[in-house]
Amino acid sequence: MPPTDRVRRKVFVTRAIDSTALERLRAATAVTVWRGEMPPPAPALRSALASADAVLSMITDKLDAGVIAGAPRLRVISNLGVGVDNIDLEAATRAGIAVGHTPGVLTDATADLAFGLLMATGRRIAEADRQVRAGMWRTWAPMTMLGHDVHSSTIGLIGFGAIGRAMAQRAMGFGMRVLYLKHSSSQRVAGAVAVGLPRLLAESDYVSIHVPLTVKTRHMIGAREFALMKPGAILVNTARGAVVDQAAMLAALKSGRLGGAGLDVTDPEPIARHDPLLRLDNVVITPHIGSASIATRARMAAIAVENILEVFAGRVPRLCANPQVRLRHPNEIA
Ligand code: DGY
Repeated sequence: MPPTDRVRRKVFVTRAIDSTALERLRAATAVTVWRGEMPPPAPALRSALASADAVLSMITDKLDAGVIAGAPRLRVISNLGVGVDNIDLEAATRAGIAVGHTPGVLTDATADLAFGLLMATGRRIAEADRQVRAGMWRTWAPMTMLGHDVHSSTIGLIGFGAIGRAMAQRAMGFGMRVLYLKHSSSQRVAGAVAVGLPRLLAESDYVSIHVPLTVKTRHMIGAREFALMKPGAILVNTARGAVVDQAAMLAALKSGRLGGAGLDVTDPEPIARHDPLLRLDNVVITPHIGSASIATRARMAAIAVENILEVFAGRVPRLCANPQVRLRHPNEIA
């Protein structure tokens, strides 16, 4: 490709990513990487996008209608993640901007972490570790640190897409009975039973959330749903914090209705330093690391780069959150 073409294709990458993927992008385009430890603040993002042809964005970058309107050359937003709730999809589609994302490659890593949180919360692993470190392990005792069985219990999956189904497989490996929310997928897993929300909440010892954040799913688990849950059940959330009404969850934890929560996501993120959830021993919180394995993040970065190159080649990417988009400047080579 002639060097002048490379200069014309400007790609803004909002955080450092896997070096192999970045090199591939650099070989084909003029790349600027935001080197800050924190995401680019809104003014820096706007200024970079004013002249960019593509952005390789993170779920922490808010790409709303205003930002999109200020990016007249932008042809593709390539998000490093499966969720695209940080992007105004309608505004991007109207502007002819493809929104790429990275489903599939992070399914197992996310389900692994969700199951880890389920175990850590149910069997009090994080709390027990804190006790040992605090010098509180004085003897074996018959009635202390008693948790909840994982094997032979019932799990209810809210969302039965790829990650929900991967969670079902893990749960079955542990001898759990698996329920999932009816109509959340057309795909089946042998042995998993589709039920309505009230039954799922009433019968599950563990409830695990695997739906994207949309206007429909925001706060879909609130006071009413906690009241329907089996007393002492445990909630696991590796999807998005705002699917759960966090104030209602805190109240349910305090009242004992909810026996514990294993959370990889909170609302907001990061969770405030003095959030009362951090004072509860039956809450395990990780900092949104569902897809954070070395191999998974490398695969995500490779796909995110591929999604950009596809658009520069004039095609709607295969992994596109708005596949109906009519690409802006489709005939422009650069
Ligand atoms: C996603 O992919 O949406 C996760 O939340 C980050 O990996």
